Amino acid sequence: MSAPTGSSITAQAARRRTFAVISHPDAGKSTLTEALALHAEVIDSAGAVHGKSGRRGVTSDWMEMERKRGISVTSAVLQFAYRDSVINLLDTPGHGDFSEDTYRVLAAVDAAVMLLDAAKGLEPQTLKLFDVCRSRRIPVLTFVNKWDRPGREALELLDEVEQTIGLRPMPVTWPVGVAGELRGLIECATGEFTRFHRTAGGATRAEAEAVTAEQIVAEEPQYWSAAQDELALLDEIGAGFDEKAFLAGTATPVLFGAALPNIGVARLLDALVELAPAPEARDDADGRARELDAPFSGLVFKVQAGMDPSHRDRMAFVRVCSGRFERGMVLTHAGSGKPFATKYAQSVFGQQRSTIEEAFPGDIVGLVNAGALRPGDTLYAGDPVEYPPIPSFAPEHFAVVRSADAGKHKQFRRGIDQLDSEGVIQVLRSDLRGDQAPVLAAVGPLQFDVVTARLESEFRAPVTLEALGYSVARRTDAAGAALLADQSEVEVFTRRTDGELLAVFANKWRLQSTQRKFPDIVLDALPAGSTDR
Ligand code: G4P
Repeated sequence: MSAPTGSSITAQAARRRTFAVISHPDAGKSTLTEALALHAEVIDSAGAVHGKSGRRGVTSDWMEMERKRGISVTSAVLQFAYRDSVINLLDTPGHGDFSEDTYRVLAAVDAAVMLLDAAKGLEPQTLKLFDVCRSRRIPVLTFVNKWDRPGREALELLDEVEQTIGLRPMPVTWPVGVAGELRGLIECATGEFTRFHRTAGGATRAEAEAVTAEQIVAEEPQYWSAAQDELALLDEIGAGFDEKAFLAGTATPVLFGAALPNIGVARLLDALVELAPAPEARDDADGRARELDAPFSGLVFKVQAGMDPSHRDRMAFVRVCSGRFERGMVLTHAGSGKPFATKYAQSVFGQQRSTIEEAFPGDIVGLVNAGALRPGDTLYAGDPVEYPPIPSFAPEHFAVVRSADAGKHKQFRRGIDQLDSEGVIQVLRSDLRGDQAPVLAAVGPLQFDVVTARLESEFRAPVTLEALGYSVARRTDAAGAALLADQSEVEVFTRRTDGELLAVFANKWRLQSTQRKFPDIVLDALPAGSTDR
């Protein structure tokens, strides 16, 4: 962590940029993350962070499972200094089945970078994640990646962004040369041109060279004039930067580049520092703003166990919302009113951890042995505060889970309790079914695989799953539960974490016929994890 230079909490907060990258798998998120860290000079060769095949860094068997399946469940948090700023980059799971985790991560950021593959544009998972950003009013910057290889036209991509998600594109840089023939980038505000020299494999920074207009006109007359025509067109339609529209989530600054050869990556960091918002006062559950310089408060957005196979511990990731965090301070857990000691506070850089002594709004603190904490919880010092809960998504997959080994029932229960409180999966119960065989409810089926694997490897509790034929869940109340008790193709459960009553239906037709039969019944929709478009 960098040494603080400003003295006050607000000055420290003003230096922070806390963001996540949202993208479809394969758009280049891991590559971009590494390139960003490389530019910020926290690591000296790309590949230290994510531990994909052939790269360093796989440390736990949990990671091993992720690696084998090519999914990324475990979020890393990167913090690095850049110019006078402190950048906090929060990773989000790449797979749509873990959209609930992504939603929680996005509850902890102040901005997002929407990463597009130049050949593919907006893809389904990008759209879903963008919807989350929109619903949370998170300003979005757009980075069009892979411009070093053949792709679509720049104007066409911008048009797609505007037409599909209604975000007005405001180019910050503009490519000279079509995708695959990138000659360099024009800075839209000044007209300056920068050429990049690639380095082998992109393992070190691409060298940038400022080139005069005369020189580039002479060398690349066609590409240069095409870029100038496009810029003139953009000028005509008024695509200049509009901060208010960006912060309101109606427009997006767009940058072009290629993460692999490190082209345009430094410019993206500059844009984050210059354009992305710093942390601001956050509203509590009653809508009152907790000022940045109020006593410490933080939001737990993720709880992760088994990150380090040698310590079967459990870490809560806390986003600092107000005040100064100092290791050792005793906080209050808003939900229970109990004290929480922070002696073992850590920062998490990829798979590495180090002790964290202090942190400011926007920073992420890892709290070890966080058995009592769950995603959405608030911790505070001084004046009490509680942030709004992070909503659980509507589950669409249901299965009864049973211990496969009668002698392991204790481990089985402990495992289910832990995974439930980490928010890995929703655990439902009903008097009818009893507690021996709880029902697991998931947004995506891969969550079941995670549960099964973790119960077996961490708790030595092998399980069997029996799928239930439900796919739609609605929130109901006691009166609704009574009405539905003897209906077919519907069952009512209590969600263990929050006591919500969930009515689950075989399909949407069964839901509709139930609504017709009981017009006054309470059947409220839950936030959707999978957005059908
Ligand atoms: P993800 O985390 O979003 O899933 O994507 P990742 O970074 O793993 O990138 C997916 C593939 O796209 C990788 O290739 C990566 O090297 C490539 N890639 C990322 N950025 C760029 C870019 O700017 N230009 C080009 N040409 N390629 C890029 P791969 O062959 O699938 O995997 P790997 O073996 O290289 O890891």
